[in-house]
Amino acid sequence: MSNEKRSDVLRVGLLGFGTVGSAFAEVLAAHGDAGVRITRVFNRGVERKRGHALAKFVPADAVWTERVEDVLEAADVDAVVELMGGLDPAENWLRAALSAGKHVVTANKQLIAYRGAELFALAESKGVHLLYGAAVAGGVPVIPGIAQGLSGDVITRISGIVNGTCNFILSSMESGAAYGEVLKQAQAAGYAEADPSADVDGFDARAKLCVLARLALHAEIDPEQVPAQTIATISAMDFAYAKELGCTVRQVARVELAARAELMDGVVSASVGPMLVPKTSPIAWSHGTQNMVVTSGRFGGDVVFSGHGAGGHPTAVAVMSDVRAIAEGSVQVRLPAKKMAVVGDVVAPHYLRFVVADRPGIVAAIAGALAKVGANIDSILQHRGFGGDRLPFVVTTEPSLSSKLEEAMAEMAAFDFMLEPPLCLQILVVDDRDTD
Ligand code: NDP
Ligand code: HSE
Repeated sequence: MSNEKRSDVLRVGLLGFGTVGSAFAEVLAAHGDAGVRITRVFNRGVERKRGHALAKFVPADAVWTERVEDVLEAADVDAVVELMGGLDPAENWLRAALSAGKHVVTANKQLIAYRGAELFALAESKGVHLLYGAAVAGGVPVIPGIAQGLSGDVITRISGIVNGTCNFILSSMESGAAYGEVLKQAQAAGYAEADPSADVDGFDARAKLCVLARLALHAEIDPEQVPAQTIATISAMDFAYAKELGCTVRQVARVELAARAELMDGVVSASVGPMLVPKTSPIAWSHGTQNMVVTSGRFGGDVVFSGHGAGGHPTAVAVMSDVRAIAEGSVQVRLPAKKMAVVGDVVAPHYLRFVVADRPGIVAAIAGALAKVGANIDSILQHRGFGGDRLPFVVTTEPSLSSKLEEAMAEMAAFDFMLEPPLCLQILVVDDRDTD
């Protein structure tokens, strides 16, 4: 990897002038003479983009184009900054940029999660940088923090909140807002992905989790193997019951090396989904677009990264930092990674929520289904004030294997008194284990 500056100014070709791309132009302009200059901007419908309020921050002599080749093949572009998103066509365009010997900076977590290994190899073979600090947790420097500051530890676990849209939705629902309304607000504010199901169904968070797993656990994992549960099934009654249990609800992403690596070599445990989070956990304190990533190291213990995980300006800060690092010829830490399999199963206490047409024998039927899979009930909660024709109530379990509970949930979903599919959420256990 070359660490030499090519010229006094790093000339940037920008792919995508949307929420983050336009904010990057503004942030770059605010830095004045940072040794970085935008020379080309590519976007479809480029005249529309030239009318964008932040287009004034692009230097007047920059070329605006709808032909991607005008950036990828340009002699006056040293670094391509990709802020379009998605796998296709971004992957081929970035391959072309790297092959042409241009550095690449991207905020595209899907691309790094699914195609990172090949792209890093290509970048290395061409002696150029491929930086992606904005791909996880927006403006929070989790990626450079792990790569530069924690590569000296043996990280065994990462957990936390890596999707700002879900955190914005769930923390707003905690204060009484309705799901559909806050999702619309997140879209209007530019936090959500082009297809917001990527956020709410957990696909964005699991891509980010895979990016972090490669970096921190040196585990190359297939995002498709990581179970992702939607937050769309969470409703106001879950916040009410969670509160009663001293918890709130957050979308949590977690990945860890198997506890007994000698038995489970080459395997990580990982999942993404809404969980009940005890109010005593820092994860419960994150509101709005805040992200929070906790790394657990064998020698250094827990380290917490927190800040704005979505939005144009915070994300543009991460992009700017990467671009600046390249302009300054900074050195990257090379970290190995090997392919690993994923198990989604976890032993944990769980929260089960049912909505039933009331009649005698319901609790007995549910207890029977749980007993069949060896799950022990910890508590049963039922708020007064709901009519028997649509009665919500909750069962919590002692630590149980999630796959066994899923078996029981499938059986219970078929009970004739069940009015909607029962909901099963893991309850996060606050772990205060010490370092060695
Ligand atoms: P936007 O949709 O706001 O911007 C994407 C831009 O790229 C738009 O101007 C779009 O044009 C253009 N574009 C997309 N595809 C093409 C294409 N095939 N050809 C030409 N132009 C194209 O997205 P964001 O700025 O929000 O996100 C950009 C990247 O940053 C994504 O990878 C996202 O995941 C990542 N990211 C976003 C964050 C956020 O908070 N928004 C935070 C962290 C990362 P058009 O306007 O015509 O659609
Ligand atoms: N849609 C993403 C989120 C953007 O809400 O976290 C930041 O990656």
